[in-house]
Amino acid sequence: MMTSIKTLLLVKHSKTGNTQLLCDAFLEGARRVSNIRVRIVDALHGVPSDLMECSALVLATPENFGTMSGGMKHFFDQTYYEVEALQLALPYQLIISAGNDGTGAEREMQRILTGYKFRQIGTALIVRGRPLGPDLDAAEELGESVATALELGII
Ligand SMILES: Cc1cc2nc3c(=O)[nH]c(=O)nc-3n(C[C@H](O)[C@H](O)[C@H](O)COP(=O)(O)O)c2cc1C
Repeated sequence: MMTSIKTLLLVKHSKTGNTQLLCDAFLEGARRVSNIRVRIVDALHGVPSDLMECSALVLATPENFGTMSGGMKHFFDQTYYEVEALQLALPYQLIISAGNDGTGAEREMQRILTGYKFRQIGTALIVRGRPLGPDLDAAEELGESVATALELGII
């Protein structure tokens, strides 16, 4: 029997490296799962076809000025019209790196992603300050669980 390979898209933006650390840990977990191809796209360079060609989506951003980073906002600005019309209903997971909050970025991205008709699959991972061991463990576990859920077809 042929097993289909599904694509998990990671759209990320990081200025000083904290979000990147969480992404690296997430990827380590996700790559343990068979039959899942992880595609990584920098938010500044993402295009609509990135979303059209994936089965699930992870968005990782710092919180800047109470919302997502400008890079992540750029990704939404670049992809919204083409993708919203398709009603893809993609499952998504949020990863947010913040100094002391993160909830503004979470709320604003949820609002935008509702416009895409995408559906959130779990609580956002919000890490405040430089990610430490337990934060990286949580990101790694998240990567494995999202990829497993996608492989099993339960998201
Ligand atoms: C311009 C700027 C604005 C920021 N605004 C917020 C904010 O509104 N809330 C918050 O909790 N942290 C804020 N921070 C802190 C960053 O979210 C935090 O340092 C984060 O870990 C940076 O992620 P990065 O290393 O991936 O760029 C801000 C940082 C910068 C540089």
